[in-house]
This record gives sequence, C-alpha cells and structure tokens, in this order.
Amino acid sequence: MIYLKTPDQIEQMRPAATLVSQTLGEVAKWIEPGVTTRKLDAIAHDFIRDNGGKPACLGYGGFPATLCIEVNETVVHGFPSGYTLREGDIIGIDTVVEKDGYNGDSCYTFAVGQVDEKVMQFLKDVKAALYVGIEACKVGKRIGDISNAVQTFCERRGYSVVREMCGHGIGKSMHEDPEVPNFGRRGTGPLIKNGMTICIEPMVNMGSKNVIIEKNGWECRTRDRKNSAHYEHTLAIVDDEVQILTTFDYIQAAIPDRFI
Ligand code: MF3
Ligand code: CO
Repeated sequence: MIYLKTPDQIEQMRPAATLVSQTLGEVAKWIEPGVTTRKLDAIAHDFIRDNGGKPACLGYGGFPATLCIEVNETVVHGFPSGYTLREGDIIGIDTVVEKDGYNGDSCYTFAVGQVDEKVMQFLKDVKAALYVGIEACKVGKRIGDISNAVQTFCERRGYSVVREMCGHGIGKSMHEDPEVPNFGRRGTGPLIKNGMTICIEPMVNMGSKNVIIEKNGWECRTRDRKNSAHYEHTLAIVDDEVQILTTFDYIQAAIPDRFI
C-alpha cells in the first residue's frame, strides 16, 4: 500500500530530511585514517539527539546502531565496530532520522585519505547513478523507469547493481511501499504520482553483483570482496515536480577539499 502525502505532510517531512543531511555533514568531518567506525556512530547518535531527532535505525528490527557502516566490500547494514579506518578505504554512511513523526533517509560514500584512481571514478559514477535515477523519476512514468535508468547507467560502466536490496517509500515509517529496485524494465512497476515520497539508493559493486549476508542477519558484503558504493536521497513528488528533500550540501560545506 502506497501512502500518498499531501503537500502539507510533505512539508512536515522536511525537518527529518534536513537533520539526516546535517548528520552526514557532521560525520564527514571525522572521516579520516585512524578513526574507528564506533566513534563515528557515537558522533551521529549524539548529534541527532542534540538536534531533537531520533536515530531511527537504532533498534529497528534489532539493528544495533545509529549508523549503517559500509567499509569497502560491505554493501549495506554494516555494524559500527572497533575497525580503524585506513588510507585508501571507502566508507558509506547510511542512516535514518525521525523528527516530528516523519523519517529522512540518506547515504553517502566517502573516500578515506587518498584512494585509488579507479575507485575514485567508481564513487563519482555511483553518485551520478543516483542523479540518473532521480532524473528518471517523473509523474506519469513508472518505478521501473527509475530502476532501468540506474541499472543501464551502472552496467555500461562495467559495474553491477545489487538485487537483494532496494530503495523504498518513506514517511511515518522508514520503509513503505513501493520498492524501488536498482534493476528492472522500463514501463513496469507502480505509476509515479504526486504525493509519493521515496528513497532512491543505488547499491553498486565494482565486481560481480553477488552478495552474502553475515550470520547476524544484517551485514551484507560482496561475495568477491570487491568494493561496493551507495548513495541515497529522500525525494517527494509535488505539483508534478521532484523535490530532493535531503541534500549533500552539508557534506560539501564540511569537507570542501575532499568532496567527491
Ligand atoms: N537506508 C537503509 C535502508 O533503507 C537504512 C537502514 S536502517 C536499518 O535499508 F536499521 F535498517 F539498518
Ligand atoms: Co533507505
């Protein structure tokens, strides 16, 4: 069941979307060789609480933390740990904030120090894939048009898209219908309508599309242990226009020299 929102309800989603964006900006300042992912999690947790939000991942279905930490081959839902970031790593930070009864969801993959040129290009391409998906999101088109646009863009560049996890609707719950896969056929799936609020989140592998889920039931890694990257925005469709509710501007402001 897809819950279409009124323009007023969409306005009420802005504080959550803004706070999740600011949280990624705050975490960005701390990403450097030597920091543990547990430290990043603590910073995000306190920042969200200090700003009147609730870390929505913490306790969700038993998830143990505020941030999903995606280092190198981790695709999604990694746990913060004592792992110390190293020069050349990539790290995706994915989190959801609840504020004023609504959720905002965003993810950004960062380079730690100097990374390999090919990996840097990969990050730029996966970020571009997010905007390709957003561009394909138009009233009167279908969810499959978004999926196909993301898949085609990524596969043309020699990457593969993960099948097991999808983007999703969002609102009072972090996961609502419809599912927004990163692969699929044009002209299939639900019609895109005014009032839809969805997250587009390409999860893209440098190598094969195959993933494994760890025994804890959460942490998802590439089977071939090659890098995976992930970018996500929360969007709303209002008056036949797509509005991106989350923003990477806070990340850019926090790390202007390292912004990808
Ligand atoms: N963006 C992630 C998702 O949509 C956020 C997951 S939070 C978690 O799955 F608690 F489920 F891990
Ligand atoms: Co999401």
